[in-house]
Amino acid sequence: MLSRGCGASRRDRADGSKLVAMTLPPSTTTPVSAATPAALRIIRDEHAALRAVLHSLQLMVERGPGDDPEGFFGVLRSMLFYIDEYPERRHHPRESNFLFPRVLQRAAWAMPVISRLEQDHVHGERDVRELQHLLAGWELVGGSRRLPLAQAVHRYVSFYLEHMRLEETQVLPLAQQYLGEDEWAELAEVFGANQDPMTGLHPREPVYDRLFTQIVMRAPAPIGLG
Ligand SMILES: [Fe+2]
Ligand SMILES: [Fe+2]
Repeated sequence: MLSRGCGASRRDRADGSKLVAMTLPPSTTTPVSAATPAALRIIRDEHAALRAVLHSLQLMVERGPGDDPEGFFGVLRSMLFYIDEYPERRHHPRESNFLFPRVLQRAAWAMPVISRLEQDHVHGERDVRELQHLLAGWELVGGSRRLPLAQAVHRYVSFYLEHMRLEETQVLPLAQQYLGEDEWAELAEVFGANQDPMTGLHPREPVYDRLFTQIVMRAPAPIGLG
């Protein structure tokens, strides 16, 4: 299980339910200080958590159900649900609605790469639905459906790793270079509300506790102990 000591503060969490309006005027503040902004740490931590889940997902599909198909399919369902619930529904919309527009206000030349990343965001939710369907096929129809899922997982993991690599190498450096302190404060509030439990930075929401305990206890490293 991932365990890191950085990321959103408790103050972020307490304020997190209130998202800032998308149409804020451009910042007029001076550039951010040399310290890494909290929002940047949260984004990187969420990427690290997702990378770990994706690697464990791929490893599980390669290993197969062994003598515990019920547990195996249950964990895979939980992992796909997590990807849909957090990275797809919380992380990506905050990038699309807050981070990317702020970067484009200051660095319009980043439009091609941000357009590509936006397209990825649009496809991501559809792709995870397809994986859920293929997984159900393997579980309910049988082993003849294993290969299509394994191939789709391989494509999905490659796609997602490249997506995060582009964000980390092309967008986040521009954000760090050009965004001002008031923009980073806004982004800290926005991303601090994510509360991704797989980062190991936040208390788990009770309603999700069973889900994440199952993943951590049964999935293989790097995300779990299985
Ligand atoms: Fe993204
Ligand atoms: Fe991202």
